[in-house]
Amino acid sequence: MPRVNGVGVQVEDTKICVVMVGLPARGKSFIAQKAQRYLQWLSIPAKTFNVGNYRRNDAPHPTADFFDTSNPEGEKKRRAAAKAAVADMLAWFRQGGVIGILDATNSTKERRRWVLDTCNQEGIEVLFVESKCDDEALIMANIRDVKTTSPDYKGQDPETAAQDFRNRIRMYEKVYKSVDEDGDENDLTYLKIMDVGKQVIINRISDYLQSRVVYYLMNLHIRPRSVWLSRHGESMYNLDGKIGGDAGLSPRGEQYARKLPDLVRQSVGDDRPLTVWTSTLKRTIATARFLPGDYNQLQWKALDELDAGVCDGLTYQQIKDQHPEDFAARDEDKYNYRYRGGESYRDVVIRLEPIIMELERSEDILIITHQAVLRCVYAYFMKKDQAQSPWMNVPLHTLIKLTPRAYGTDEVRYPANIPAVSTWRGKGSTAKHEDPLPEAM
Ligand code: F6P
Repeated sequence: MPRVNGVGVQVEDTKICVVMVGLPARGKSFIAQKAQRYLQWLSIPAKTFNVGNYRRNDAPHPTADFFDTSNPEGEKKRRAAAKAAVADMLAWFRQGGVIGILDATNSTKERRRWVLDTCNQEGIEVLFVESKCDDEALIMANIRDVKTTSPDYKGQDPETAAQDFRNRIRMYEKVYKSVDEDGDENDLTYLKIMDVGKQVIINRISDYLQSRVVYYLMNLHIRPRSVWLSRHGESMYNLDGKIGGDAGLSPRGEQYARKLPDLVRQSVGDDRPLTVWTSTLKRTIATARFLPGDYNQLQWKALDELDAGVCDGLTYQQIKDQHPEDFAARDEDKYNYRYRGGESYRDVVIRLEPIIMELERSEDILIITHQAVLRCVYAYFMKKDQAQSPWMNVPLHTLIKLTPRAYGTDEVRYPANIPAVSTWRGKGSTAKHEDPLPEAM
């Protein structure tokens, strides 16, 4: 049965196992968790199976010699962990999973062939993603991260942990074989990422979904950067409680536009010029107009507010009175509800995909956009689920700074302290100036 996937394309039941390959401390788990987050954001059922988590059931705090291939006890336990992870992954695929990510070193040809054969027997395609990295600074940064975050070293002296982890890497180096480009692995589908994106090699990508995953992974980088998000200043429509439209700023919205450069400077500093993205609507462009001249500005149609179709220009009360069924249906399932002649949150996420891709490729960006669009971008970074994100409170006149880290995203909010109406609305209500409930934040 053909199904429609998260990006709105019919897929003939494609299932892909993304098999990570590489020595420890090469950013495999980072890549796996980012891919999972991106795919889930697009509503593609995706799940990571981390073999280390299975191994920890049997060997919670192993020392490096556990990973020595001449240690039969260690070998046995490690093979059992891989088998258990793959078995769980196959069971998950049978229940409708689409992209399973096997997060392990998969460092030998034998192991990779075994995963390939096991998946192929169940009609699952395999895409190997190897992270190959010889950059000492990157490896050291990863080691630092592991010794402080890995449950393997919980409660241990950080220096002893780092030393043991280095020894563990040495054990793997004895048997590790990079995916063989010229020899007996050139039949595999793979993406090799060298030094986190400096060079990539792609082999035998065979379908649409695989190419989507590959394209996303090719765009990732790990240079430090932040993304700043702001709604436009309060608009004349906001004052009236009307949705949509292309109104100008209210006097208080103007004030915010004038204060925004200071707010940005306070968070960014003077020496980091930002690129500013706005929508094509007047209120975001007006909000950006006092930012420094050396900031590049770009308008994206994809950042325009969710299209409210026949309800554009109405207040929530008018929608309830004139289109009561639509009002109720939207409250029932706000993420999927599509305004007649307009859009749903799901539609907005799909049109935002190029924005996310461009954001991943870029460094510091300030995005000035609208309530619904900001919720969708925020949901991508903060891993908010679809039932919740359309209800999130995003106050006007507030700058939000998001900084992606190895395992999540840090957030800081800077209120401009310029009063504005609240455009937040709780389920069932039509109120213009409601105080949000704590769980809606
Ligand atoms: O009220 C401001 C606004 O940006 C409207 O233009 C838009 O329709 C609405 O917010 C989106 O928020 P919600 O999905 O909560 O109605």
